[in-house]
Amino acid sequence: MNIRTVATKPFDDQKPGTSGLRKAVPTFQQPHYLENFIQSIFNSLDNYQGQRLVLGGDGRYYNRTAIQTILKMAAANGVGRVLVGQGGILSTPAASCLIRKYQAFGGIILSASHNPGGPEGDFGVKFNTPNGGPAPANVTEAIFAKSKEISEYKVLEADDINLDQQGEYKLGGMTVEVVDAVEAYADLMASIFDFDAIQKLLSGGFRVVMDSLHAVTGPYAKEILENRLQAPAGTVRNGEPLEDFGGGHPDPNLVYARELVEIMYGDDAPEFGAASDGDGDRNMILGNHFFVTPSDSLAILAANATLVPGYAKGITGVARSMPTSQAADRVAKKLGINCYETPTGWKFFGNLLDAGQVTLCGEESFGTGSNHVREKDGLWAILFWLNIIAKRGQSVEEIVKEHWQTYGRTYYSRHDYEEVAKDPANELMDQLRSRLSSFPGQQFHGYEVDLADDFSYKDPIDGSVAEKQGIRLVFKDGSRLVFRLSGTGTQGATLRVYLERYEGDQSKQNEDTQTALADLIQIAHEIAEIKKFTGRDEPSVIT
Ligand code: G1P
Ligand code: ZN
Repeated sequence: MNIRTVATKPFDDQKPGTSGLRKAVPTFQQPHYLENFIQSIFNSLDNYQGQRLVLGGDGRYYNRTAIQTILKMAAANGVGRVLVGQGGILSTPAASCLIRKYQAFGGIILSASHNPGGPEGDFGVKFNTPNGGPAPANVTEAIFAKSKEISEYKVLEADDINLDQQGEYKLGGMTVEVVDAVEAYADLMASIFDFDAIQKLLSGGFRVVMDSLHAVTGPYAKEILENRLQAPAGTVRNGEPLEDFGGGHPDPNLVYARELVEIMYGDDAPEFGAASDGDGDRNMILGNHFFVTPSDSLAILAANATLVPGYAKGITGVARSMPTSQAADRVAKKLGINCYETPTGWKFFGNLLDAGQVTLCGEESFGTGSNHVREKDGLWAILFWLNIIAKRGQSVEEIVKEHWQTYGRTYYSRHDYEEVAKDPANELMDQLRSRLSSFPGQQFHGYEVDLADDFSYKDPIDGSVAEKQGIRLVFKDGSRLVFRLSGTGTQGATLRVYLERYEGDQSKQNEDTQTALADLIQIAHEIAEIKKFTGRDEPSVIT
């Protein structure tokens, strides 16, 4: 078979963001665009020849085309064996699981996570390292550097592989193994959680609804919940992965998972509702007429971890991204375990997990996970909650409220101003940055600023430094305001404003979140002049 060397020219926009290279589908469809980036990945690596690679995606539009191209490029570049999920499907956590299980040199995951899909939607490519986690900055920078100097790429001339049939195929000197996308992951879940206790719960009238939003978790949730845990058929809704996610926005929050929210806030609501995102790494947890804030979820999982067989011996520590609320810190303090604050993005947790410094990690953006893989994991979080509920015999709401009584409640919300103009959004950040030193000591609506900075993080394991990770105003009572621009959007800019206030008084723990945060919302508008720079009075999404 023939290896073709194709001449190409660099694209100047192949810098990976918070989570891989994410662009609109038409961008990826430009001649050479995908190939350049994939070749840049290979060009940035040493000693992968003859080794294993894991490959799969969330099933969105362009997934199959991209997989065939990547397979032929992997063969031409000397990869030994590629494990591909059947149908080209692998959720992000399942890919991480396979990389670790088979000691691959890495994985290529095709996903734009929670962004909409389809011919006009988004597509993305993420590279994961041998620990199963997202490539850290030094790796993504090396890929970006190669993308700026690329002049040719290699591809094997061969027919497409049948991705729908499990088995081994030859592609030049390389073996392609089309594997069951679900089994290894489902086995891993069964090894962590008390499946007997959960099964008993589900057979005792405890009703669960899982909304896979027509995205990748459908087959995983059906196998785990309906098959292994014997929940009634139909427990998993929207469980067929579709190329355009049925036209929806596969992001598990109160806005985009509306169908689920209507069920959980309707008459005769089930006891437990959950959703996951496009590639299966995010989760939303709902009780009957009750929403669990992701920051609280992390804290509650940490506080109850020993109820889960996989963490029965206790956890070594927790890590959260900087904008995530400080609820988990209070649990860590009580348990006397490590607590880390990292920049936004799962890649910052990898070193801490590898070094055994932390067991659980989480982000406010509906992401929670542990050392079982090196990605956040939606179904894992859902099973964790079911395991806790089965052991405690309480409802979601009772568990959360008891947690607040013990640790205090952290009112928390994120306001997103999506698709605003880029330049003024950068100006908003610049003007805040230029005023940082003037904030401490100033009073706003009764809140006195204690600290104001642009968050920077020094990795305690490898000493690498990440700067400009979000502007943070911490007030004397511990309340916080954080401003950052999204690193995953593909249209214009997205301003994220994170708001947090602690309430230790039990009699004041049942307010509506937006009401409880009203003063902080007002302060955010005033000091950042959000209206002036974005032209918007209101955020487009509130979570
Ligand atoms: C967003 C979330 C972040 C998460 C990332 C990938 O990134 O805020 O927590 O890790 O998606 O799921 P952002 O768009 O804010 O850069
Ligand atoms: Zn995701």
